Amino acid sequence: MPRTYQLAMIGGDGTGPEVAREAQKVLDAAALRFDFKLDWETLDWGGDRYLRTGEILPDSAAALLEKKDAILLGAIGHPDVKPGILEKGILLRLRFELQQYINLRPVKLYPGVWTPIKDKGPEHIDFVVVRENNEGLYTGSGGFLKKGTPEEVAIQTAIQSRAGADRCLKFAFELTRARDRTKTLTLVGKTNVLTYEFDLWERAFHEMGEREFPDIKRDYNHVDACCMWFVKNPEWYDVIVTNNMFGDIITDLGAMIQGGMGIAAGGNLNPEGVSMYEPIGGSAPKYTGQNVINPMAAICAGGMLLEHSLREAAAAAAVDRAVKKLTSERMKSQAAGKMGMGTTEVGDAVAQFVADGI
Ligand code: IPM
Ligand code: MN
Repeated sequence: MPRTYQLAMIGGDGTGPEVAREAQKVLDAAALRFDFKLDWETLDWGGDRYLRTGEILPDSAAALLEKKDAILLGAIGHPDVKPGILEKGILLRLRFELQQYINLRPVKLYPGVWTPIKDKGPEHIDFVVVRENNEGLYTGSGGFLKKGTPEEVAIQTAIQSRAGADRCLKFAFELTRARDRTKTLTLVGKTNVLTYEFDLWERAFHEMGEREFPDIKRDYNHVDACCMWFVKNPEWYDVIVTNNMFGDIITDLGAMIQGGMGIAAGGNLNPEGVSMYEPIGGSAPKYTGQNVINPMAAICAGGMLLEHSLREAAAAAAVDRAVKKLTSERMKSQAAGKMGMGTTEVGDAVAQFVADGI
């Protein structure tokens, strides 16, 4: 009996379903080649379903997903739905309910991919951001006073627990050890201004490092300086750990230096539960149905799914090799409409390389 995995696929909105389909194609090719089986359940959650039924997510969503081995997500965000409703009601709700407390975002420049950073190549841009994914400003804690009046006040509170920081740090330290590169973990924060939140992060970071990870070098950057170094000296980084909000911001910058949203992938991980993998860009609705959107980010997210959830290391490595081959030998650009290939052709080519054992 081959190993069988249960996967959920949420195509979502805009170009989400198109890119997710190409990732599915590549994962199916990997399954065939590496002798395991994938059972897919496709879920129609997203803006269209919401506009049709008025329901954002069925109440049973988390229970259904908890039974899966992993989730592949296309993109959430619909032009006819007010911003925030679907993002909070689907993406953030699933990240929270499934306790996906790690948002893992590799910043890796593939060969042949254009970076806006002059004189930097794949040997300079290859690090990982570990973003805390369940707390901070994303808890939605706060409110208004005197809303709509001239004296209006808005309060938005960042909530950071010690336990939440500790579990995130533990993952980041272990990842740094496993990567075995410069063995440097950089905490990114703002200790000079956020003197409560980052006091907690800093103490947790050094206490854990000293106690359990003496082999890992500890570094610290203010978040603004970190943005500067991303552009000037990205090769300094090995693994970064940071809070939810800063992680959101710096990984968009990271995506740009690795070639853009077309190729930037991420995973929402619950190391003890079910994880959800997604391209980190949005749903790009204006490109829907034109076969021009780049599915590479979704394909790379699929590679992460193989590595982190299914633990099919050989299959994950094969996807990585196939992606490298395509970026270096065939794709003209990573931008939508400029790849020199269509969405489905990119998926077909990567799947073929995987099938051919390249
Ligand atoms: C991301 C996105 C989300 C976030 C939005 C859509 C809520 O920007 O995955 O980075 O802020 O986390
Ligand atoms: Mn973001």
